[in-house]
Amino acid sequence: MFPTTNPESTKAWQELLKHADQMKQTHMRTLFAEDAERFNKFNLRFEQILFDYSKNIITEETLTKLFALAKECGVEEGIKAMFSAEKINATENRAVLHTALRNFSGNPVVLDGKDVMPDVLTVQKKMEEFCERIHSGEWKGYTGKPIRYIVNIGIGGSDLGPVMVTEALKPYWKEGMQPYFVSNVDGTHIAETLKKVSPEETLFLVASKTFTTQETMTNALTARSWFLEHAKDEKFVAKHFAALSTNEKAVKEFGIDPANMFEFWDWVGGRYSLWSAIGLSIALTVGFDNFKKLLEGAHAVDKHFQTTPLEKNIPVIMALIGLWYGNFFGTATEAILAYDQYMHRFAAYFQQGNMESNGKYVDRNGNAVTYETGPIVWGEPGTNGQHAFYQLIHQGTRIVPADFIAPAISHNPIGDHHVKLLSNFFAQTEALMNGKSAEEVKAELVKQGLTEAEIAKLTPYKVFTGNRPTNSFLVKEIDPRTLGSLVALYEHKIFVQGVIWNIYSFDQWGVELGKQLANKILPELVNDATVSSHDSSTNGLINAWKKLKQ
Ligand code: F6P
Repeated sequence: MFPTTNPESTKAWQELLKHADQMKQTHMRTLFAEDAERFNKFNLRFEQILFDYSKNIITEETLTKLFALAKECGVEEGIKAMFSAEKINATENRAVLHTALRNFSGNPVVLDGKDVMPDVLTVQKKMEEFCERIHSGEWKGYTGKPIRYIVNIGIGGSDLGPVMVTEALKPYWKEGMQPYFVSNVDGTHIAETLKKVSPEETLFLVASKTFTTQETMTNALTARSWFLEHAKDEKFVAKHFAALSTNEKAVKEFGIDPANMFEFWDWVGGRYSLWSAIGLSIALTVGFDNFKKLLEGAHAVDKHFQTTPLEKNIPVIMALIGLWYGNFFGTATEAILAYDQYMHRFAAYFQQGNMESNGKYVDRNGNAVTYETGPIVWGEPGTNGQHAFYQLIHQGTRIVPADFIAPAISHNPIGDHHVKLLSNFFAQTEALMNGKSAEEVKAELVKQGLTEAEIAKLTPYKVFTGNRPTNSFLVKEIDPRTLGSLVALYEHKIFVQGVIWNIYSFDQWGVELGKQLANKILPELVNDATVSSHDSSTNGLINAWKKLKQ
């Protein structure tokens, strides 16, 4: 097991504190002016991905100290522990092996004395064959029609990954296949989806690691009743329902034919599960060959992550830069801004990935931490964000480190759309870095013919301090392999940060309390009795609802 070091107790952390005081007085504009080689020093390439981290408030000294922190906190040991199937998810006594799901090395992955790879490959084969049967039309619905609609019913990690990937890979959709995703227990979600599909041509994928999640089970039962209203015979369920789960018993109890169950295992975290059977909706939408390319892209990053020295290791650098701002500059959030409309759910996906993994305050020794951990992650695609919230990123009082992601080539090369999009992508990080000085503002206003008094009045509002950090990911194209690589880079970033913060990144106890209380409240909502078992606010709200709904 890798060390459980309190990062604040390390020499590197103390040095970084001092160094940060100095760096807070430094402007990136100066760093660029002083060093013509800055971009060359601070960018890395991985296949078709260019990662430029030069627009950060860092120097080589900063990075040296951050790498020292990573070493002192056992990042290298952590990476080894994860890949060698140690039970690093200790509060659930589980290994963390989503990387085995995309392991094309031919090497075994041994957990508790058993190689997990044969089972992984068997499920992949089953998924491939299933996709072939659906796509060829061999698999028929209860009236003999082929399947056209895929409805994935799942939530959180059993929804966000497939949604994000199918949206990002829309140009790769197989003709004739239309996926839908139902997650919310709000009846509107399933009701609106069922309006768009026909029972004869729909395959429902009930996606749930535990197969006990309230939202998913409720939606799945509703889908089943709706289906049976049309099909009229339980025997047809087998043609229209499949399960993606680790819980065979619950799948059987639900009435899904075990032959239609695609298995995965407890060593796959929900938010890391798109690579598993949970990815079946992806494979059915874009084809198994493209699903495999996605996995291969992630595997390539796994190799990079495992074998590259920290100093050239992209996820490690992403992690350290994030931590630099969060722990030494006091930033609270990180934005992910994809300049690609198809990637519009990428930020939402990593909102769960990051916040469910590293939103923890108890360290691996059972103590409350005395430093900040996981950031608040958010974002919208560019250029929409520019006209909504970039004002605060440019001129607000808070620093928001931001990742900018853009493809060099568009899947829709219409007119000059893509050069316009990219001009914004390049301009934003330049503007955030450079800002605009009072002198520049004044010169502009003089040119516009404003009076001295007007210039004096307006100047403060038009000044941009700049020095706002960004990373840029310029990729050739958003294709399955590149997307797989990008996702794996972010996954490993989260892992590295968790190791340094000395927290358990792979459990999620924080989601339990709300679930427990909802289960307690549910029976109180099914009668008219006045409720008095809670605090006055909760009682007041429940009782008001009981009146309002009449
Ligand atoms: O409530 C959070 C969570 O447990 C996530 O971690 C998970 O991705 C999601 O619920 C769905 O869980 P399941 O796949 O077991 O239905």
